[in-house]
Amino acid sequence: MRVGVLTGGGDCPGLNAVIRAVVRAGVTTHGLDFVGYRDGWRGPLEGLTTPLGVEQTRGILARGGTVLGSSRTNPLKDEHGVARIKENLAAQGVDALVAIGGEDTLGVATRLADLGVNVVGVPKTIDNDLSGTDFTFGFDTAVGIATEAIDRLRTTAESHHRVLVVEVMGRHAGWIALHSGIAGGANIVLVPEQPFDIDEVCALVRSRFESGHAPILVVSEGAVPRDGSGMTLQASGTDEFGHVRLGGIGERLAQEIEQRTGEEARSVVLGHVQRGGTPTAFDRWLATRLGLHAADAVAEGDFGTMMALRGKDIVRVPLSEGTGALKLVSPEEYAEARVFFG
Ligand code: F6P
Repeated sequence: MRVGVLTGGGDCPGLNAVIRAVVRAGVTTHGLDFVGYRDGWRGPLEGLTTPLGVEQTRGILARGGTVLGSSRTNPLKDEHGVARIKENLAAQGVDALVAIGGEDTLGVATRLADLGVNVVGVPKTIDNDLSGTDFTFGFDTAVGIATEAIDRLRTTAESHHRVLVVEVMGRHAGWIALHSGIAGGANIVLVPEQPFDIDEVCALVRSRFESGHAPILVVSEGAVPRDGSGMTLQASGTDEFGHVRLGGIGERLAQEIEQRTGEEARSVVLGHVQRGGTPTAFDRWLATRLGLHAADAVAEGDFGTMMALRGKDIVRVPLSEGTGALKLVSPEEYAEARVFFG
């Protein structure tokens, strides 16, 4: 059996660990043959391949990003997209696909599986917002990067008695902000799931200064004020999956706080730094196990499934389940962070 592998959507540390595990287990345990598809769904849509065997996966475990490249190409926007993919798979002798990606990439995989394409999905995103799995690889690395940034920014905030606002990624889920905020000891954590009151934020800032310390705020890029003014965008337009480009809430908050409290404020946007560099040990472990089980599922012909972490076990769930509603921060988990506000 010949298997195509693709990585779609935002890149993140751990992708290469999945590729390595899928290919190593596929070749040595199941006798499968592999080909790499380039740049997400653009690869199968345009027939862009690259050789992919055990040799091509040596030494990539600890490398960030993806050796296959990625994109946000949505083949379902092309009326002939599904037919073109099926034609290319047949022409290239590819019997099955392993799609590694987030809600968008796996949403396409779900549709293709429904239309008879043999697909196995592996969940990926730093946002950790896929409901079918307890954690996604990429998330732990992003939280570690954000937490280290918060630790470092605390020193300058304390030295200059300034408000430091740290904007983190996560799109419409506040998991990176919540975990890094708790780990970094942030004095305020703002997430998209809980619209914030700027007056309450300023009161917490003042109370922090009254304690003789400077406040550190962690704000998720998708956080919104309660006044209904909506999300802060860094550009107009949307990508091929309809996503807006978030960014700027951190600076907007810093300016508001400075104007209302008279305290100096600075903002820092961590942006794509959270997606760069080598994966943590946890992400390497999780990504490797997901890849091993994906190879098993392909060998068994168990298509239309997504690998998922449940507790410490890797299980298979229907792709449609894995890419359903986003997994969002619950009020109960947000309340835990609130204990440390102010
Ligand atoms: O989905 C991962 C993610 O990093 C989000 O947290 C972020 O909003 C988005 O991708 C950024 O997309 P791009 O890299 O296309 O700008």
